[in-house]
Amino acid sequence: MIEQTLVLIKPDGLKKSLTGNILTRLSETKLEIAGAKIVAVTRELAEQHYRHMKDKPFFNELIDYLTGQLHDRRKVMALVYHGENAISLVRTICGATNPEQAEPTSIRGAYGRITTSGLFENIIHASSNSQEAEREIKLWFKPSELVYRIYPAKKITEKTEKLIWK
Ligand code: PPS
Repeated sequence: MIEQTLVLIKPDGLKKSLTGNILTRLSETKLEIAGAKIVAVTRELAEQHYRHMKDKPFFNELIDYLTGQLHDRRKVMALVYHGENAISLVRTICGATNPEQAEPTSIRGAYGRITTSGLFENIIHASSNSQEAEREIKLWFKPSELVYRIYPAKKITEKTEKLIWK
């Protein structure tokens, strides 16, 4: 089945200069990149992304992690991969969520760690199923930022203040 999935290379991945290695590993899937950007993650975005984890004791630390506060770097690389079985192909290369349980050759097994407080610093996020992929892709990307109209979109006219080049 043709699918799309959201991948986030988290702030520790950028800080440790692992972006190239991770993209090379992901290219083994032969999937197509349908969108990519660097995002300065706000607290609101991180809280929306992890909204299903709200009741977890590590929620605040998880938000600090994605917003870059644990690595002094408010940057995440967000990508949308597109193609046959995209969700499971990407998740296999990422490895288990817990980096200690991940295959040593997987991205998380090779580069992830667990902090002394028990937070998984697992370098990369990948959507867990197609519903989550749709929710996450729509949260992180505008339709115009993707090369394919993956989900239905509509045109609206809005008068809002926006930043443009001088
Ligand atoms: S999964 O793999 O996405 O289905 O996992 P899920 O249970 O839905 O999401 C858990 C996210 O919380 C991060 N996290 C932890 N989970 C469990 N235990 C601990 N201690 C923990 N610390 C952080 C975990 O990495 C998942 O986020 P992502 O971004 O998907 O890795």
